[in-house]
Amino acid sequence: MNTRIAIFDTTLRDGEQAPGCSMTVEEKVRLAAQLEELGVDVIEAGFPIASEGDCAAVRAVAERCQRATVAALCRTTEQDIVCAAEALSRAARPRLHIFLATSDIHLEYKLRKSRAEVVNMAQRGVRLARALVEEVEFSAEDATRSEVDFLCEVLEAAIAEGASIINIPDTVGYALPTEYGRLIRTVRERLGRRHPHITISAHCHNDLGLAVANSLAAIEAGARQVECTVNGIGERAGNAALEEIVMACVVRADRLPFETGIRTPLLYPTSQMLSEIIGFSVQPNKAIVGRNAFAHEAGIHQHGVLSNPLCYEIMTPESVGAPVDRIVLGKHSGRHALAQRYAELGHPLAPAELEAIYKKFIRLADRKKKIYDQDLLALLHARTSAPRNEPTRPTVPHWSGA
Ligand code: KIV
Ligand code: ZN
Repeated sequence: MNTRIAIFDTTLRDGEQAPGCSMTVEEKVRLAAQLEELGVDVIEAGFPIASEGDCAAVRAVAERCQRATVAALCRTTEQDIVCAAEALSRAARPRLHIFLATSDIHLEYKLRKSRAEVVNMAQRGVRLARALVEEVEFSAEDATRSEVDFLCEVLEAAIAEGASIINIPDTVGYALPTEYGRLIRTVRERLGRRHPHITISAHCHNDLGLAVANSLAAIEAGARQVECTVNGIGERAGNAALEEIVMACVVRADRLPFETGIRTPLLYPTSQMLSEIIGFSVQPNKAIVGRNAFAHEAGIHQHGVLSNPLCYEIMTPESVGAPVDRIVLGKHSGRHALAQRYAELGHPLAPAELEAIYKKFIRLADRKKKIYDQDLLALLHARTSAPRNEPTRPTVPHWSGA
């Protein structure tokens, strides 16, 4: 089986659906250009029927991005599909992404449709979409809470009408990795064998904090496309984080021997660009792109990292494009880190000097959470300059003979 995983980025669609994450058309185009540079395979640019803005954004992204596939979301109705196809008309590689719920709870309370009607809606929707665009993806919304025989029946109907990518969303973030992996394997065994050309896709939400684990389980079970977002933004607790899936495959290539087209040094700059656009940053301890992801404060860790970063780092900040200032000085820091920072500031310290400054540093660090370079320079200056109310002795030029 091939080992190339297609990265389907839905930051501009599912990500943007998160409260406070909406973007203007210009912002979406700017981020889409960066995503293309990053190397994603598919950019889901929006849900055109949802609003004029979404429609305009899909059109603008489709015009701007000529390498990546640009996808537009739609339900199975003619109005949705025609609108999405129209928005994609200038795309070099357009994809219509049709979704329809398959769980009983959605059929009863949201769609108010019978199972037979849902099969019929899937067939008609995919048929129309294929008449307009070559590449069609079908998503069975709430797949993980759907009865598996019915799920496969709907997917089979979508494939028969020409869908070549079938997506199995964990819409409510309910699945556990073992369960989700088993579901993907079941779909692959039942449908993939009969239709070897189709791609199975994973789409995981993070309500239980398992979106990335579930996406990796899906890849191991045969999914060859993962849907994810930068910084993991998305509905409720978010979607699977793109940077975490990609780096898991890079760092644990021994257990996850899969490749993506992502240029990993662009992960951090892309995360930063998104934060700047939506106006809020990721939590400091966020894996891969958080401010503290490569920061070490504890003295023992700092000593280890200074001797060899591999002691406490499983990947380098450079590999994801993060700034290389690993050492955070605080009350847990040791003499090694302090000496190194003074040397970097141009003030190498003799052992006795270091010892004296270290004591003051710890007293200061007890009061202040973080110690900055200015604080270190102030400590050094306070030590070398005379106390304020003691008269300073006039300096005597050395040639005076005094
Ligand atoms: O979570 C979900 O089910 C979705 C679909 C529209 C793919 O976002
Ligand atoms: Zn979703």
